[in-house]
Amino acid sequence: MMRLIGLSHITKNYRSGKQNENILKGISLDINKGDFVSIVGKSGSGKSTLLNIIGLLDVDFSGEYIFEEQVINSTNDIQQSKLRNQKIGFIFQHFNLIDEYTVLENINLPFLYSNEKADKSYIEYLIKKLNLEHQVNEYACNLSGGQKQRVAIIRALANKPSIIIADEPTGSLDERNRDLILNIFKDIHQEGMTIILVTHDPTVAQLAKKKYIMKDGLLYSESEVTGVND
Ligand SMILES: Nc1ncnc2c1ncn2[C@@H]1O[C@H](COP(=O)(O)OP(=O)(O)OP(=O)(O)O)[C@@H](O)[C@H]1O
Ligand SMILES: [Mg+2]
Repeated sequence: MMRLIGLSHITKNYRSGKQNENILKGISLDINKGDFVSIVGKSGSGKSTLLNIIGLLDVDFSGEYIFEEQVINSTNDIQQSKLRNQKIGFIFQHFNLIDEYTVLENINLPFLYSNEKADKSYIEYLIKKLNLEHQVNEYACNLSGGQKQRVAIIRALANKPSIIIADEPTGSLDERNRDLILNIFKDIHQEGMTIILVTHDPTVAQLAKKKYIMKDGLLYSESEVTGVND
């Protein structure tokens, strides 16, 4: 098993007024290449906080974070943005597309801000695979929720990242679109992609091979916890 990500004793505090709130209380987690990991847990338990740290959107934490054998150094902006651009594909609940841009423009957006060149034939392959051929020149604002999330998935996959990080990726979708997105996750996992996702939906969580529950700032593997279903 090749380790992709190693988290050791990650803690995170937020200051609220004079108080220091301890949101993550010592998270240790290894993610190997090809893993499919899910995290469930109550609202406010710190799931997004953890994903933002893993996705290098937030480097203000304590503890050790190793990504592909590199120790994440919170002061090294160049290291962080390089890893973020090249190695991490992020998918959000509310898609985060630009409404005034077309599907193709949204997909190509990450390449505008990096030195990477888009692999056009791979992007065409993804567009076909996710059934968006007829929408490529459509403006994002005219798409359905399910279509928007498929665009967001293509955008996240386009630069062939090492990991897909998804925060509540089916939270804004109806059941039919949820199942469609689930099948895509299943597929890209089978093709070898490493995935970590956070969800409220047990059906989504069940898809993962390694299931965790976030509780009071700590992470428990599903087998450690019985009788917890939120
Ligand atoms: N920028 C911030 N400043 C201060 N407190 C914050 C900030 N972001 C999150 N928090 C607090 O940290 C805690 C965890 O938030 P987080 O968003 O990680 O929860 P979550 O598990 O993702 O919840 P949900 O399921 O509702 O998305 C909450 O109590 C929240 O109020
Ligand atoms: Mg959240």
